[in-house]
Amino acid sequence: MNAIVLPRFASLASLTAVLSLALLTTACGERASTSSAQTSAPAAPAQASSPAASRYDTAKMDLKPAPAKVTSERHSGVYAEGSALSTTAALKPLDPSPVKTIRLDTTHKIIEIAPGVRFSAWTFGDQVPGPTVHARVGDRIKFSMTNRSDEPVPGPRMTAAPMMHSMDFHAAMVSPEDKYRSIAPGQTIEFEFTLNYPGVFMYHCGTPMTLEHIASGMYGAVVVEPREGYPTKVDREYVIIQSEFYVKPAPGNAKVEGVPLYVLDGDRLRNAQSTYTVFNGVHNGMMRNPLPVKAGERVRLYVLNVGPSKTSSFHVVGTIFDRVWMEGNPDNQFRGMQTVLLGSSNSAIVEFMIPEEGSYVMVDHHFANASQGAVGLLSTGAAGENATEHHNIAASPTPTDPDAAQAKLQFESKCLACHALVGGRGKKIGPDLAGVTKRRSDDWLRRWLKSPEDMLATDPDAKALLKEHNNLPMPNQNLSDKEINGLIKYFHWVDSNPATPAPAAAGQGKS
Ligand code: CU
Ligand code: CU
Repeated sequence: MNAIVLPRFASLASLTAVLSLALLTTACGERASTSSAQTSAPAAPAQASSPAASRYDTAKMDLKPAPAKVTSERHSGVYAEGSALSTTAALKPLDPSPVKTIRLDTTHKIIEIAPGVRFSAWTFGDQVPGPTVHARVGDRIKFSMTNRSDEPVPGPRMTAAPMMHSMDFHAAMVSPEDKYRSIAPGQTIEFEFTLNYPGVFMYHCGTPMTLEHIASGMYGAVVVEPREGYPTKVDREYVIIQSEFYVKPAPGNAKVEGVPLYVLDGDRLRNAQSTYTVFNGVHNGMMRNPLPVKAGERVRLYVLNVGPSKTSSFHVVGTIFDRVWMEGNPDNQFRGMQTVLLGSSNSAIVEFMIPEEGSYVMVDHHFANASQGAVGLLSTGAAGENATEHHNIAASPTPTDPDAAQAKLQFESKCLACHALVGGRGKKIGPDLAGVTKRRSDDWLRRWLKSPEDMLATDPDAKALLKEHNNLPMPNQNLSDKEINGLIKYFHWVDSNPATPAPAAAGQGKS
């Protein structure tokens, strides 16, 4: 890129212009530590001999990896192997070896994507997301994968039938028709490649329909450090992978270990109407198990949005991103950002300080996505006990009825801010809803949930309720009939399980 290109780029949308300017700024070897990215002065062309230019010299890159090998030899034993792999959010330190041998076998497996929601998934390395690969520019990846989707799993066969799978590493520069070819159940593919660019790269199954293979769980991240390492030092490093699930109850309302089984919903998938949007594979997973941090620490998050179809507006409540490296490459630097916008398969490294004791909520600031589970915590407390009230969701049992289970999630995201469900011990702006099915008929609840404004105009019980609660009417939640029925089922379930530890609420109050 050079200065002549600037006017054409600058005439595009403002984001593109800012990106172009940032790239120009870094092309002259300067990290944007001042306001230089906002000036309109044309940047000098990059010097061919500068370190930044030589980093991207394609003559020095490995662009001729050997052909892939496909055999009918089958791996056995563990499904993921290699010292470069991390299986949790905590990124393991870089293995200094310049050759990284990794194995990620594909499996079909039932996973839990939300409390009480078991999903028939397809995996890399027997987990969703698949393990994170940690390496550095110049490293050679020796990859192998057996398609083990045909292996029997314990108990009755609930998983999808065996099928073809493949591996597509965005971190590689290789011929897709050779390296990324689909292999049959029982086959093994092996190939090698060299990491030419630093970044946080997606990997995924590319077998058609790719949309279904990604939505079923076949994705993960490759973190490639710059050859000379990152320019900053941090105290914590975590990998955050955002993804969507599109699910419906399995045919015949099948159950696994007494819990309803869910399968891929093709209609929702093609219309991009997700049922869950999550971090690291689990609805609200890091709310229940926050990532530990300490006040004063510098944190680096490797954030990857795998989609398959949604954009993430990643934000951490209570802090500012000191540095954002788009796609995980320090040459693509922004400073002082509040959110980072990530399309499907886009990534960023974000670094920030933890200013003081507390629980810092990671959230997709597209709040429709957050309400589907794309939230998590970085907490200086043991179990996130200081969490923001809206997100203060203690682990609690889940009804087995699919409508009621869905309603529980809806209650936690929509209702919990104003209503407790703890039986006379909760004091929030609205009534505690424990025992509500004993106080009101289903018909009354249905009419109330459908149209609180109509009820307040006509129903004496509703009028009395309003008086009790400081004349603050409940806003109409615009619930569908199906959602209302689910909530009523959920309230019945809570009331018939009085020992159930319900979602957390503070203080004392009358119901
Ligand atoms: Cu696949
Ligand atoms: Cu891809």
